[in-house]
Amino acid sequence: MRSYRLLQIIPFMLFACASESQQNSLQDYEEIDAATVLDAPKATPGSFAPERLYLVERGEYLVELLGCGACHTNGALEGVPDFDKSLAGSSIGIAYTTPLGDETPGVIYPPNLTPDEETGLGLWSDQQIERAIRVGVGRHSGRKIAIMPWQGYTKMTEEDVAAIVSYLRSIKPVRHKVPDEVKPGQKAKHPFVYFGVYRSRDGR
Ligand code: HEC
Repeated sequence: MRSYRLLQIIPFMLFACASESQQNSLQDYEEIDAATVLDAPKATPGSFAPERLYLVERGEYLVELLGCGACHTNGALEGVPDFDKSLAGSSIGIAYTTPLGDETPGVIYPPNLTPDEETGLGLWSDQQIERAIRVGVGRHSGRKIAIMPWQGYTKMTEEDVAAIVSYLRSIKPVRHKVPDEVKPGQKAKHPFVYFGVYRSRDGR
């Protein structure tokens, strides 16, 4: 299975400038080269009707193209994906409040997308998976899905989203429970990265 790191393809930024300032609240952070592009795992033979092959293959293509595994695979956010756990969720989280101003930011761990019934999407209906991808509504949380760029998937065609669902149902179930969400103010027990988003004040 291939994995190559592409600098700057996915703009995640871990804060790293600790050594430059005594005051820096980010002294507990280190810089990583995290952008990872990885193959989606192959469908399990016999897990789908032969006439659905086209849909499953299209789903695999879309999942690879849209980089779902870069967040939903253990280790990928640090540039060292665990290929045995492709798409089975990440025990490295993503902070959704900024560690710059918040010593203990809120953190979400991208969940397991394999068909495992206990820790993955095994008990989700097709419609629930489709809604999570295109509308950003989770099955458990009842709130809008954070961090995942579902707005970019909203205009996906019915066929494409059905292809993704067929594909996710066809891969090997992997038991892997990701850590629970950490609310801002609580201390995360598992590592996390932060996506930096800045806007300059120039020109106002
Ligand atoms: C930038 C990282 C990122 C990318 C890229 C991403 N996701 Fe997610 N996804 C997440 C996070 C984080 C959550 C949990 C969000 C929450 O609970 O608020 C999530 C939640 C989900 C859920 C709901 C699962 C559950 O157990 O709640 C599904 C389904 C899902 N993603 C599928 C996909 C698919 C399919 C793709 C590719 C088309 C994708 N994701 C791309 C980060 C990402």
